[in-house]
Amino acid sequence: MTQDEMKKAAGWAALEYVKKGSIVGVGTGSTVNHFIDALETRKEEIKGAVSSSVASTERLEQIGIPVLDANEVSSFDIYVDGADEINHDYDMIKGGGAALTREKIVAAIAKKFICIVDNTKRVEVLGEFPLPVEVIPMARSYVARELLKLGGDPAYRQGVVTDNGNVILDVHNLKITDAKELEKQINAIPGVVTVGLFAARGADVLLMGSPEGVQKFEK
Ligand code: A5P
Repeated sequence: MTQDEMKKAAGWAALEYVKKGSIVGVGTGSTVNHFIDALETRKEEIKGAVSSSVASTERLEQIGIPVLDANEVSSFDIYVDGADEINHDYDMIKGGGAALTREKIVAAIAKKFICIVDNTKRVEVLGEFPLPVEVIPMARSYVARELLKLGGDPAYRQGVVTDNGNVILDVHNLKITDAKELEKQINAIPGVVTVGLFAARGADVLLMGSPEGVQKFEK
């Protein structure tokens, strides 16, 4: 079974959580693209989606799913998104696709975070995947120096501008044993918009594609 087949299986498994008449929070990335394909089969039943990126918005609109403004909804049941890494406490590293800020906002509004991944994303300790940090452009060098002090090795993601007009620093060589604390520390650096650690608001359900089928874990 290929990695993409495992992603697809996880994406389609998330349909189980989509209720009639509901609004669905939609993440970003190749695994979510499979979920969007699955959602097309239920598009007549749902009110619409709140999207976490320009890319997902375009994909949703192409298949005729109405995309609602996050300011127009006070709450919705589920947010479905992938992850770059997820540990056994359901803390995640996200932002490999540079959509972390809007992902964190949509996740915060939702009641339940359904994380869909293939089995290569499950880790004991977060940090092998470089931790993305979205930064206001003028603060890039300052934030990089502060991240060095926290023990990381930041690299500027060249040529990438986020949907919010900011830049990304990818922090290498971290072994993240206290994700909640590191999330707070990095968020407190002036110039940081969002850190791609999702620990204060981690996942509630994990649907993990594997050669044996989709494994489901619930908090
Ligand atoms: C987007 O910025 C990310 O947070 C994605 O959710 C994450 O990178 C997972 O992407 P894939 O589903 O493409 O692996």
